[in-house]
Amino acid sequence: MSLSTSIHDIKTLVLSYHPVIVMETVEEDRVFSLLQSTALELRMPFFQWSITTGLVRVPGKSIMYGTGEPTSLLSTLHQMDTQAIFLLKDFARFATDHTVARQLREVSQRFAKNRSTLVLSGATIRLSPEIEHNVVHFHLKLPEREELRKVFNTVLHSLVSANRIEVLLDPREREELVTALSGMTLNQARQTIAFAALKDGKLSVGAIREILERKAQVIRESGLLEYFPVEDNRFQLGGFARLKSWLVRARTGFSREARELNLPAPRGILIVGVQGCGKSLAAKVIAREWKLPLVKLDAGRLFDKYIGESEKNFRKAISLAESMAPVVLWIDEIEKAMATGGGEADGGVGRRMFGSFLTWLQEKKHEVFVVATANDLSILPPELLRKGRFDEIFFVDLPNADERGAILTIHLKLRKQDPSQFDFHRLVEATEGFSGAEIEQVVIAALYRGLHLKQPLDTELLVKEISETVPLSISRREDMQKLREMSRGRFVSVN
Ligand SMILES: Nc1ncnc2c1ncn2[C@@H]1O[C@H](COP(=O)(O)OP(=O)(O)OP(=O)(O)O)[C@@H](O)[C@H]1O
Ligand SMILES: [Mg+2]
Repeated sequence: MSLSTSIHDIKTLVLSYHPVIVMETVEEDRVFSLLQSTALELRMPFFQWSITTGLVRVPGKSIMYGTGEPTSLLSTLHQMDTQAIFLLKDFARFATDHTVARQLREVSQRFAKNRSTLVLSGATIRLSPEIEHNVVHFHLKLPEREELRKVFNTVLHSLVSANRIEVLLDPREREELVTALSGMTLNQARQTIAFAALKDGKLSVGAIREILERKAQVIRESGLLEYFPVEDNRFQLGGFARLKSWLVRARTGFSREARELNLPAPRGILIVGVQGCGKSLAAKVIAREWKLPLVKLDAGRLFDKYIGESEKNFRKAISLAESMAPVVLWIDEIEKAMATGGGEADGGVGRRMFGSFLTWLQEKKHEVFVVATANDLSILPPELLRKGRFDEIFFVDLPNADERGAILTIHLKLRKQDPSQFDFHRLVEATEGFSGAEIEQVVIAALYRGLHLKQPLDTELLVKEISETVPLSISRREDMQKLREMSRGRFVSVN
């Protein structure tokens, strides 16, 4: 959301009789300038309040004495006839007091009639249900590229003109650095640039890497997402020929040429299918092929016992992911986060989260490519499977003969075995109906057995292990059959 869209949205809220707007953010400065611009455009007076200054009219700074105390502030507001916007900084914490809470309700009822608006800002805001009922939440999006570029230029300008630093970045690298700042508040961006530049008196490409590393650290500390750096990604996927060629084509969607033609970047894919057949692995491999970092969203980590906190966590996770863009966002077992079949059993959290997810997926501007995986189609909301949500929905079945060969090769090589020493014809035939995970398990178990018997791994050992394994395709034949029937013809096969 650019600055002008934010102003537009707040204007709409003010004009449509919303007496109390809540903005939960640490960026007080941005809230202030946003409201100032809004008031200017609406030709409405603008006031701000804090416990230390009381109510002050902006501009001009004329102080309204005796308004420092929350109760006296609210009585003053109740009596004022001016139609205006009031920014109350860190006010919500006083609303736990019964008198303040009651007064706040009365002021909001009055404001709803005379079209004045109170804006409550603060880092975390918890309101009692009676007040919550009368407020609307406005989510201040993180600064856009233009805002960050402006800050970048201002900081550089002041440091360079003071002869404090030397800038060793060409125009393309400058843009990369601005990209790296995404996800930061303006203040964080300012500090980050200044710190990187002042540390050794120059700003060079090294700074870009450092910034990315710092952001990765923030992601790790958030506890909401798991981060896989590009360098560590060595995952290999056997088979999946059609998915792989789709990825090669989709990659061009991220190119500068595509951007210049105003083409939207690819949004994401959903991979559904049989257990242990490489869905999760595919997500990792996509990031590797595209040389992008990978962040994994774990549904379980989002849920919180407090009402509203789960969705807050979800929004936070999404903006953290956006801060790493371009990035692959992997949502494993999406049905667990977005299950809507349970009705109100979970207080509707799944449904609301699902709603926010769909909106975000539809509107997202950042280059965040979503790879969602799902095992259980029956609890996935059908809206998610509709055309146009994801760029494509892929179905993964048990590997065919060629794929089993490829998977065997990967797992033998990973464990220092030479594939040419084995009878692949036999092995591929014997593993019919096995998933990739089961094939991997066979290789591992046979190697253990070989170690125990003090003999090198050979085809016989593998075949023995295979014959002792009952694959899920047999033990859970019916479930698998059902999944296949639901998916065949509807989704694109990965191979
Ligand atoms: N096509 C494949 N190529 C190479 N290895 C594979 C393949 N399929 C599965 N494997 C092996 O099996 C392991 C498990 O696969 P993965 O976790 O990706 O399956 P999944 O489809 O996500 O299963 P689940 O439904 O249980 O989450 C992988 O880590 C990998 O070692
Ligand atoms: Mg998985």
